[in-house]
Amino acid sequence: MPQSKTHSPGQMVSPSTSVELQPRLTQSWFDSLPVKKRNQFLSNLTDAEAANLEYRWSWWARSKQIAPLGDWTTWLLLAGRGFGKTRTGAEWVRDQVENCGKRRVALVAATAADTRDVMVEGESGLLEICPPWNRPKYEPSKRRLTWPNGALATTYSADEPKRLRGPSHDCAWADELAAWRYDEAWDNLMLGLRLGTDPRAIVTTTPKPNKLVKSLVAEEGTVIVKGTTYENRQNLAERFFDKIIRRYEGTRLGRQELDAELLDDRPGALWNSVMLEDLRVKQHPELVRIVGAIDPAISNNEGSDEHGIIFGGKAAGKDGHLLHPGRSIDAR
Ligand SMILES: Nc1ncnc2c1ncn2[C@@H]1O[C@H](COP(=O)(O)OP(=O)(O)OP(=O)(O)O)[C@@H](O)[C@H]1O
Ligand SMILES: [Mg+2]
Repeated sequence: MPQSKTHSPGQMVSPSTSVELQPRLTQSWFDSLPVKKRNQFLSNLTDAEAANLEYRWSWWARSKQIAPLGDWTTWLLLAGRGFGKTRTGAEWVRDQVENCGKRRVALVAATAADTRDVMVEGESGLLEICPPWNRPKYEPSKRRLTWPNGALATTYSADEPKRLRGPSHDCAWADELAAWRYDEAWDNLMLGLRLGTDPRAIVTTTPKPNKLVKSLVAEEGTVIVKGTTYENRQNLAERFFDKIIRRYEGTRLGRQELDAELLDDRPGALWNSVMLEDLRVKQHPELVRIVGAIDPAISNNEGSDEHGIIFGGKAAGKDGHLLHPGRSIDAR
């Protein structure tokens, strides 16, 4: 049994969509069988059933790649490089179109080239993962994919946020959101996610601690799933691990890019979040002097930093405290 799809588009004989395998067929069920039964199961498959299995995501997916249950609006998949984020996004869109009645999908990546080359035409993109018997037709000049059932997906670039103002969708997929240049693209996408009774979005990205990612993490209605590069090891080239991954292991960049940690601390900062957490106190003593400091952003545009505002207080002895609403940090 192959670990991933091996076909080239158009190469396979289309089975009729009526070919169905047991609905609950999963790899863990298969793995639980004795070897003899497994071989029996595989050799009894007809060509059409084998094709069905090849494109059956519930068979190949790891549990973190299947949509969480519940009433979320945004499924935020924060995962390391090569985890299978794009594949998860594409498979989710396919499921929404094939099984959940979605008809107007928005596909958004950092640039127009990324949307086309990764989300649509990439190795984990929609044209590759959709089965030949239900593959959408891609019309690049119209920035559109059309499925046989009439569902449409439109491609957008997060570099052109204004194009997302106006169109409405019932389903959206945002890839590598942490690399988007304008927060406005996400805002416009969300404002247009209003068709049907259950509009939903998936965000697949390696995290960066920027304003947009942080606000999405904090948002009510977001369900977060985290994963590392290592979880998809069996589907990644050995060479990728030996040459690329090894180089970043144990580094700060590796924690972000492989382990998908949302790192807030600046390299070289005098104080890091662990040191500050260790010093946190619930109650500070009476302060004899309190001062405030402001580090204003000197510009006012999409890419501007936030204003920095901080208050610190001196207690009667030598202790100093940084103040936070409702909390303080003992800065002796
Ligand atoms: N559960 C799975 N079963 C089989 N193959 C998988 C599975 N998940 C991912 N893959 C494959 O692993 C490879 C990497 O997946 P993908 O491109 O989705 O990763 P990614 O996290 O988006 O990578 P990047 O960080 O480079 O954007 C692809 O060939 C994809 O088809
Ligand atoms: Mg990807």
